[in-house]
Amino acid sequence: MLIMDNEKSIDINNISISYTDSGPRNGAVIILIHGFPLNKSMWDKQVLLLQENYRVIAYDVRGHGKSNTGINIFSIALFVQDLIGLMNTLAIKKATLCGLSMGGYIALNAIENYPDRFEGLILCDTNCLEDTPIKKENRTKTIDKIKEQGIEQFAKDSTEKFFTQGSFASRKEEILAVRKMIRGTSEESLTLTMNALANREETCSKLSKIKVPVLIMVGKEDKITPLSDSEWMQKKIINSFLKIIENAGHLSNLENPKDFNNHLSAIVSLIYNKGI
Ligand code: MLT
Repeated sequence: MLIMDNEKSIDINNISISYTDSGPRNGAVIILIHGFPLNKSMWDKQVLLLQENYRVIAYDVRGHGKSNTGINIFSIALFVQDLIGLMNTLAIKKATLCGLSMGGYIALNAIENYPDRFEGLILCDTNCLEDTPIKKENRTKTIDKIKEQGIEQFAKDSTEKFFTQGSFASRKEEILAVRKMIRGTSEESLTLTMNALANREETCSKLSKIKVPVLIMVGKEDKITPLSDSEWMQKKIINSFLKIIENAGHLSNLENPKDFNNHLSAIVSLIYNKGI
């Protein structure tokens, strides 16, 4: 992963949030929200692309990367409060959100509760569902397993679920970077965030209210948030497009950045009516 040299931190809701702020200050704003348990560096290639024409904010969700943990109960609603706090403090009135997996859960909750603050949505490898009882139980088992076996084993198990077999041969650097991001997340934050994911509310019943342009992207081989979830969302969101990313599993922006970025360019051009 590249090291962004414009990393900053800002106090929001009694914690320090780490973020990068790139591109023209007077430009349209795109905010990138990473998946669990990763951090803003997963977006490096998208920041490089978008910063030519847009103001791009990539931030570490509470308890991830270099952002503090703060209070000891996490929820998607709290993550949305942090996002809105970040936008308010940076005087960003409106933005396009791009969220992958957990980042998508945050983006969907944010647009449901603050529809006037967003002018476009990019949902990557995500869904609008709440956890089934089995998924909740699995999260509890995972929390116990981390306590018994440690984060190193969790990082290994997670990357096996995230990436395709093909990526294990061709994307070694990305896999190592993702393992490092997971290892860099504290056990406390892993537990708090998994509880937040397990207790999240569905947003499927609100999708028809979304009026802004929406691009849904999903890795063809995503095992965690499968293609069928994305197809379902695309049917429910009026102004939406679905792009299936070949040679990719759950982390489609890292596994096939070329196709991912082409679709990303096209949607932001459509939203803001300019070239990239
Ligand atoms: C993520 O990538 O953010 C997670 O896989 C989301 C989840 O576990 O539901």
